[in-house]
Amino acid sequence: MTRIAVYPGSFDPITRGHEDLIHRSLAFVDNVVVAVAINSAKQPLFSLQERVALIQQCVREPRVEVRAFDGLLVNFAQSVGASLIVRGLRAVSDFEYEFQMALMNRNLGPTIETVFLVPASDLTYLSSSLVREVARFGGDVSALVHPAVQDALKKKFAK
Ligand code: PNS
Repeated sequence: MTRIAVYPGSFDPITRGHEDLIHRSLAFVDNVVVAVAINSAKQPLFSLQERVALIQQCVREPRVEVRAFDGLLVNFAQSVGASLIVRGLRAVSDFEYEFQMALMNRNLGPTIETVFLVPASDLTYLSSSLVREVARFGGDVSALVHPAVQDALKKKFAK
């Protein structure tokens, strides 16, 4: 049986922290579907197409597929045959939101388990919003994101 995990998020943009979690997930599942949320409540910096394309450039791994999704995550997970949802836990501050979301997802799709992964210790402080802020003001994000993302941020903020 092929074990599939969905790794959902806004990925605005993908960071080295996200990449780390994708690679960690591949240690215990056969395939990871990176699920990029279309209807995120947030107003994204990068369009859906840009976010998907950046993930594809950063993660060149045949066992990883990048898909956009709309509506409920559990419905999407079921549609791709996933039995797991992977989420990252960086700090205690993440916990309440993640706990709520995991319980709601269990309520909506009882057969799908949420698994929390902790990123590499040097990436725990990292978030897409911090990366956007540092890049917006011309700071160096080269250690935080793939070079393709660095270029995309430069172009975005040069406008
Ligand atoms: O990277 P983010 O912004 O924290 O990701 C949040 C995301 C997209 C995973 C979450 O908002 C989500 O799953 N949205 C889809 C709608 C849904 O299923 N909501 C019910 C779960 S509480």
